[in-house]
Amino acid sequence: MTTLLDEIARRRTLAIISHPDAGKTTLTEKLLLYGGAVQTAGSVRARKGQRATTSDWMELERQRGISITSTLLQFDYDGYRVNLLDTPGHKDFSEDTYRVLTAVDSAVMVVDGGKGIESQTRKLFEVCARRGIPIFTFMNKFDRPAKDPLALLDELERVLGIGACAMNWPLGDGADFKGVYERRTQQLHLFEKTPNGAFAAPCQVAGLDDPIVIEKLGERLHERVHGEIAMLEGAGHPFDPEAVLAGKLTPVFFGSGVNNFGVQLLLDQFLRFSSPPTPRKSGERVLLPDEEKFTAFVFKIQANMDPMHRDRIAFARIVSGRFERDMQVVHVQSGKKVRLSSAHKLFGRDRERVDDGVAGDVIGIVGGAEYGIGDTLTTDATVRMAEIPRFSGVCFATISNAQTSKYKQYKEGLRQLLQEGVVQCYELEKDGGTVPLLAAVGELQFEVLEYRMKSEYNAEIRIERKPWTLARWWRVRPDGAEKPVTWPTSSGQAVDPEGGRVVLFEEPWQLAYFTERHPHVELALVPYGVR
Ligand code: G4P
Repeated sequence: MTTLLDEIARRRTLAIISHPDAGKTTLTEKLLLYGGAVQTAGSVRARKGQRATTSDWMELERQRGISITSTLLQFDYDGYRVNLLDTPGHKDFSEDTYRVLTAVDSAVMVVDGGKGIESQTRKLFEVCARRGIPIFTFMNKFDRPAKDPLALLDELERVLGIGACAMNWPLGDGADFKGVYERRTQQLHLFEKTPNGAFAAPCQVAGLDDPIVIEKLGERLHERVHGEIAMLEGAGHPFDPEAVLAGKLTPVFFGSGVNNFGVQLLLDQFLRFSSPPTPRKSGERVLLPDEEKFTAFVFKIQANMDPMHRDRIAFARIVSGRFERDMQVVHVQSGKKVRLSSAHKLFGRDRERVDDGVAGDVIGIVGGAEYGIGDTLTTDATVRMAEIPRFSGVCFATISNAQTSKYKQYKEGLRQLLQEGVVQCYELEKDGGTVPLLAAVGELQFEVLEYRMKSEYNAEIRIERKPWTLARWWRVRPDGAEKPVTWPTSSGQAVDPEGGRVVLFEEPWQLAYFTERHPHVELALVPYGVR
């Protein structure tokens, strides 16, 4: 029987982040193949292809050809248990994508080698970087014409503000792609199929000047690669596992996901150098993953997965202790005792009952109408997790009920959907009173709200867009209490549900101007006390 500590040490909980089309689905599929989950791997692609689900609000997904929902995948590989949390990928962002990142301990960032760092990768990266989690980079699609690899590393460091260390190096690209050279082990991995269709086994060489390398690459390519690696050795970041764990250095792997080339190198090194579940904060207290008491926090709620039952699933990340089916826990926010009898692993529409789990695992709890985003489930009633997965909005709108006769439906629908985290809602100061202000990280969230209010609660809403594009939580520094604060006339002031004060700006220059004039006001991208 393994101990709790052993079980936790072998957990790796990650998300793959990327811009649409960079190759996240493909990489997910290949990783699952290594975990022996062949059938599931097939359906990852199928799911992306069909975009078909039975749930009715997912009709919106189908109409728009996007994927809003996300999935939980688990597989074993080389003694590790890997929890792969799929971040919904579509061009319209939603907060769900960010929320998933609060539940993982590390991330793999897929970059299209032909395009470099794209906008959505950058945004997702920023959320990971703020939490200081290890980030591994897969430079994909080297079988196609790619950007200069040194320029890609440089871009990564410049745009993302993080050190990059190439673990393997691409030998050419596009039609001239010959494979990768693994720097640490001095192994040559050739992008060459053997008669049985598999890639040639890696071959040990005595450095880059080994005659085998010269022969395989040809003189011109060898010279180029030689020069690139000399540059790396001279000016690149050395590999430093501590810096990787601190999220300050990203190990970079080159390859081609669709050809399953370079994927195993990534997976092996990822498992070796990424982090098992780390301690998390509960107020002033730090919860260790191997504490005996069970604690989990809800990071995502998905409703109406099954239109026949109008059910809800709360996804909870286990932070400490061991989960056992039917165990009784306290739902801290309501103070109620609840029995966790219907916990599931989920993949698309398929549910599989979960009987046990440890820190690092994610369980989907069916039912639980009272659960909200960020809620704590625990066997230790003194614990209240500090993880409120809330992010700074970029679009804002006021909301009102469009049919007075449906006020009850409007109230109830809005209450439930806000609890589920479909959008955020603040109280906006207006004419001496307040009005509700919706905040979202993507327009899609407003659309989902409107659609679901109508289809599930039969309530029509009126949404009026506001011109603000930036929100910051603010407080006056202790030494600046006496100094005045002058808000720009175009700004808005609001209060979040926890009482946090939020200021809204229209343009980045207004924020910059305000910051310059008010060094005594502290501005934050997320509520205070939240990573
Ligand atoms: P995403 O989840 O990040 O949106 O990307 P996805 O994996 O679906 O990949 C987007 C497209 O890029 C797919 O092609 C996929 O086959 C292709 N792709 C992924 N990895 C590589 C690679 O290493 N090399 C090359 N050349 N292509 C790659 P598609 O035509 O959109 O879809 P499909 O018809 O191949 O499924």
